Amino acid sequence: MIGKDVALAASLLQEGKLVAIPTETVYGLGANALDTHAISSIYSVKNRPTFNPLILHFSSWEAAQPYVQDVPKEIAELAAIFCPGSLSFLLPKTDLVPDIVTAGSDKVVVRVPNHPLTLDLLSHLDFPLAAPSANVSNTVSPTTAEHVELSIGPNISYILDGGNSNVGLESTIMECVNGEIIILREGGVSKEELAANTELAVKSYSGNTISTPGQLGKHYATRKPLVIVKDLKTYLASGKVDCTVLAFDESVEGENCIYLSRSYDLNEIASNLFAAMRLADTHTTSHIAVAQIKEEGIGRAIADRLRRASTK
Ligand code: TXA
Ligand code: MG
Repeated sequence: MIGKDVALAASLLQEGKLVAIPTETVYGLGANALDTHAISSIYSVKNRPTFNPLILHFSSWEAAQPYVQDVPKEIAELAAIFCPGSLSFLLPKTDLVPDIVTAGSDKVVVRVPNHPLTLDLLSHLDFPLAAPSANVSNTVSPTTAEHVELSIGPNISYILDGGNSNVGLESTIMECVNGEIIILREGGVSKEELAANTELAVKSYSGNTISTPGQLGKHYATRKPLVIVKDLKTYLASGKVDCTVLAFDESVEGENCIYLSRSYDLNEIASNLFAAMRLADTHTTSHIAVAQIKEEGIGRAIADRLRRASTK
């Protein structure tokens, strides 16, 4: 059931039920983070491997403090700037966080989503919400209540409808290691924005081990193949036209062209990306083609999602 009833959402969550929640990044599949039974339902509804941990959502940075420890002062300073917002923090957890939430890790990811309905909901709960994206694992994340309804609607109790997720890409996940900020997942807050707000060096994750399982290759998959091409015009002129094009501006046209922006506006492109990937899947074309995107600002996160979607 879809609706805007925050009180109903709160009472269902108190009963240990699953409720999809709107956030500015993507919709989340929320459950009481302290109720291990509710958490295990998240894993089964999403068909998510139990080694892949969940993010905790709070109404404020202060509300998160009992659940994390050893917070470096530079991280608290970033939190003061970016909470609420699309930045998630990997920190050592306290015993209040059940192991099933972190898949056994002694660290937990926390965030304060920037959406009025969900902030209102969280402020009425006396527990944090564990919430992965509200989609079946390895499919495109939902940015509307209808997307959630179509994928997991029948298996959950309620979908709190907060309209379109404006940012449109998942949060940036970061950790402070040896006095440096390491970005574990590119997302709604760009590397440039982080660097402009901290004295610490900001680096992209480049290790070989998978410390954030979301870094596993295939992810965010469309049903049909998605190819990233150097030059769309040349690609389309070559006759391989049985495709839906995701366009960043008006330099390409055609009936199977979906415009993420008309003017190469990166925020607009991010905001429209996941809905466009879903729409492209409904076309009768054989595949999806998209140009390489400028890897600056939120363009890095867009490039990351497109690369993962194109992984065979
Ligand atoms: O924007 C977002 O972050 C959305 C909204 C709903 O808040 N949530 C989201 O959750 O994208 P999810 O579960 O789809 O992606 C979270 C990523 C996963 O790749 C997971 O492996 C990683 O965060 N993660 C969560 N807890 C972790 C932990 N303790 N250690 C390492 N990685 C963790
Ligand atoms: Mg996800």
